[in-house]
Amino acid sequence: MQFDYKRDMEMVPQNTEHVLITGTTSGIGRGLMDFYIKRGAKVTAVNRRRDPDLESRYPSVQFHMIDVQDTRGIEGLIEDLAAHKNIPSTFILNAGINKVDNDTSFSIEAFREALNINLFGALNFAAPLIARWRELATTRVIAISSTTNYAANPFCLGYFISKKALTQSFEVFSEMYRNTNLQFKWVVLGPVLTPIATSSQKFPKIMLKIKDLFSVSVEQTAQALYDFSKSDRPCLIYPFRARILFRCLWLAQQLIPGFYRGRKTPLPK
Ligand SMILES: NC(=O)c1ccc[n+]([C@@H]2O[C@H](COP(=O)([O-])OP(=O)(O)OC[C@H]3O[C@@H](n4cnc5c(N)ncnc54)[C@H](OP(=O)(O)O)[C@@H]3O)[C@@H](O)[C@H]2O)c1
Repeated sequence: MQFDYKRDMEMVPQNTEHVLITGTTSGIGRGLMDFYIKRGAKVTAVNRRRDPDLESRYPSVQFHMIDVQDTRGIEGLIEDLAAHKNIPSTFILNAGINKVDNDTSFSIEAFREALNINLFGALNFAAPLIARWRELATTRVIAISSTTNYAANPFCLGYFISKKALTQSFEVFSEMYRNTNLQFKWVVLGPVLTPIATSSQKFPKIMLKIKDLFSVSVEQTAQALYDFSKSDRPCLIYPFRARILFRCLWLAQQLIPGFYRGRKTPLPK
């Protein structure tokens, strides 16, 4: 049954939690927005495009139309939230893309776009929060990374590199600001059943079957992310079994000649 704001919200006790989520027009971000709203939290959503249907379905959500690549736009948003003493207690930096950028030829544009959105899109939020760390109440900043960062995806090179760099950046921030109110956390997600583009069709069918075994639903992911956001742990790997899959892939890439390319047919001459 679809979420109906009027019907379902009457039953929900309101709480004071305020969460900002990027990329709520689909997939995990949308699932998270739904999850938090049903728990009575205040939600601020940052999306690159307007979706009137979504906005009418979630009338209590504050929607901001900002592309996460827009450094100035995000600085302005944080400034505005700070000026109104309305900085969210949790930021979930979820917006991301996955593109094939290295198939029969390498696309520098697609590679750059993946880094601009997946890596710089998250750092654009981290920078103005770090600049204010002394004045913040407890603020959790959560990056959504991927198990892809364990094993190179030769077709989606920008995705792999961006998620690896994102994970490493948040590991460093987490250590640097460990004893402050600004808590950096990161989530390493395995396959989640969303419409995000993947390079799956490039891999042998058996790989797709194996991948299905390791997939989780958006609802399960939202619950796991919520529980994690409340914990003191800096990092969540979810579902944990996906780590085993991607670590095995990494090992196979090191040990089996040709496996690295993951290609069914050789490059055309
Ligand atoms: N699904 C998985 O298996 C999986 C596994 C590991 C990690 N992840 C990560 O989880 C996150 C969400 O993925 P998903 O599966 O939910 O993908 P999705 O369904 O494609 O959702 C991505 C969201 O990000 C938004 N977005 C993309 N570029 C943006 C930009 N420049 N500015 C603002 N918003 C932007 C999209 O907006 P539009 O609707 O406008 O495109 C959409 O709302 C991503 O960071 C992804 O890498 C996913």
